[in-house]
Amino acid sequence: MTVKYNQRTHKCGDLRAADVGQTVIMTGWVNSFRDHGGMTFIDLRDHTGLTQLRFNPDHAVEAHLVARKLRNEYVVAIVGRVVSRGEWVNPKLPTGEIEVEVDEVDILSECDPLPFQVNDDFDASEELCLRYRFLHLRRPEMQKTFRLRHRIGQAIREYFNHHDFVEVETPFLTKSTPEGARDYLVPSRVRPGNFYALPQSPQIFKQLLMIAGYDRYAQLVRCFRDEDLRADRQPEFTQLDMEMAFVQADDVMTMVEGCVKKIFKEGLGIDIPTPFPRMCEEEATRRFGIDRPDLRFGMELQDVTETVTASDFRVFKGAIDAGGVVKCLVAKGGDQLTRKITDGLTEEIKGIGGSGLPIAKVIQGESGLEFSTGIAKFIQPLCTQLCNEIGAVVGDTIFFMPGTYADVSKYLHYTRTRLANILKLIPKDVWNLLWVVDFPLVVWDDEEKRWTSTHHPFTAPRDEDLHLLETDPGKVLAKAYDLVLNGTEMAGGSIRIHQKSVQSKVFELLGIGEEEANEKFEFLLDALRFGAPPHGGIAFGFDRWAMMLNKSDSLREVIAFPKTQRAVCPLTNAPGTVAKQQLDDLFIAIKPLPKK
Ligand code: AMO
Repeated sequence: MTVKYNQRTHKCGDLRAADVGQTVIMTGWVNSFRDHGGMTFIDLRDHTGLTQLRFNPDHAVEAHLVARKLRNEYVVAIVGRVVSRGEWVNPKLPTGEIEVEVDEVDILSECDPLPFQVNDDFDASEELCLRYRFLHLRRPEMQKTFRLRHRIGQAIREYFNHHDFVEVETPFLTKSTPEGARDYLVPSRVRPGNFYALPQSPQIFKQLLMIAGYDRYAQLVRCFRDEDLRADRQPEFTQLDMEMAFVQADDVMTMVEGCVKKIFKEGLGIDIPTPFPRMCEEEATRRFGIDRPDLRFGMELQDVTETVTASDFRVFKGAIDAGGVVKCLVAKGGDQLTRKITDGLTEEIKGIGGSGLPIAKVIQGESGLEFSTGIAKFIQPLCTQLCNEIGAVVGDTIFFMPGTYADVSKYLHYTRTRLANILKLIPKDVWNLLWVVDFPLVVWDDEEKRWTSTHHPFTAPRDEDLHLLETDPGKVLAKAYDLVLNGTEMAGGSIRIHQKSVQSKVFELLGIGEEEANEKFEFLLDALRFGAPPHGGIAFGFDRWAMMLNKSDSLREVIAFPKTQRAVCPLTNAPGTVAKQQLDDLFIAIKPLPKK
């Protein structure tokens, strides 16, 4: 080895025409190689870009011999001189005006045959990419992703530091912090039979920090939730978690808006207008079927219960008689939807628990508007009235949904999102930020026959609703707020209960008796007795910000070493079995799996 690779003078994206004549030391990976007229050309790559290297046997015979042995992803160091490419300029490369004529080359590392190429975006299966994640991460587009993620992280840190927030690390080995998911448990060796829970969020600790007088806290922190995974959920993920003392909801929201502005500016160079619009949860669910509506397109849910009561259609009547509703979506220009697409949507609705998706197309009949397709005959007499009411015209397709309010909202939200993609209704490069506010404090869980928190049990009820806690809890609204971007929940937070008596009342409402409350949250209840200031905060899904700004479809693209849908890491093969001795140390025995 003769090239002093630790004295690298330039990176692969650095050199320009003005550097011609310089002697340079460079390092990197072989991106591609080709032989041309007796010379060998290599594109050398690092995280900054590509530089073309020229190996001329008439100039450096030894280097040329080595170059002919190089294969993709070998790691090399070179010394050479920057020369102009003359007429062979490559306008697609920032370094395309020059190449480096190599004097010496050292192979620092060889590379086995690759499971997939690093130098192109040809998609290997996700499993293979995750199995060889170090190669996948080497790809230029992944390098860009993780540098964007880094910039977002830095913007957040700088912002909160600038606003006097203190970063305090909260424990990972702790007690359950209820955020609605299952806990990941860690057995204790020194107290056999006892378990730590990994935090679903630092919720209680950040409240304790407010009670401890820290005034403003912010932390980029890992959280753990054992829940069903989706594209926007990982079992371990990162939150920007923050809390402020002596604030109302508006103060927290304004602070967040400033941070989001900075994230967009430093992540993408975009100026985002503030303040963000607000919508109450009731309106969001009524108009869009979901508490995180995507407002980049219209196609709102419309309630036609009253009108269709007049029809004899059994499916509609049945739902209405059972106390439910009938709502619909009007897909403008829906006549381009083929039978295959609408049948497919119906099957998808069945796949998520619905019983179907009644559809009517609006056509021009002999004496006015008419419905065509399956359910037309049942509701034909209502055609003109319905179309007037919901603004449907010839060429539109109406998707109906009868059922309970919750089911109708769920299935029509699903249909609305699918239709927007199919009909390409979503404009590109639009960032639609929305605060959703006025959530109910609790919702009734029909299966468990009890009230559960909409956010978490520490969220404060609105002062004007306090008197309803005992008499009509379903009507109590919370001082809670969620931030939604293009239909994805990006952050959620609330003003907290800072009075022990209110906290006890809420625990009681949630069916958490005094004994259980003391066992689980004694430290919080204690702290509330010792001078707790009013406080509130929020947590951002940091990975989700990276995903959205990177325009990725899945969190897996923006987490360096993510888990698959089955919560497995194909790189390390975690989770795995452990030695019997380790289990013995913990006094743990594994039960046999139940037979299928
Ligand atoms: P919440 O449970 O709403 O609130 O979480 C805050 C934000 O974290 C993100 N998030 C996730 N991201 C990836 N994978 C997951 N499994 C996952 N779960 C949640 C979402 C969400 O908006 N302690 C409260 C915050 C508070 O009240 O201050 C909390 O954790 O973007």
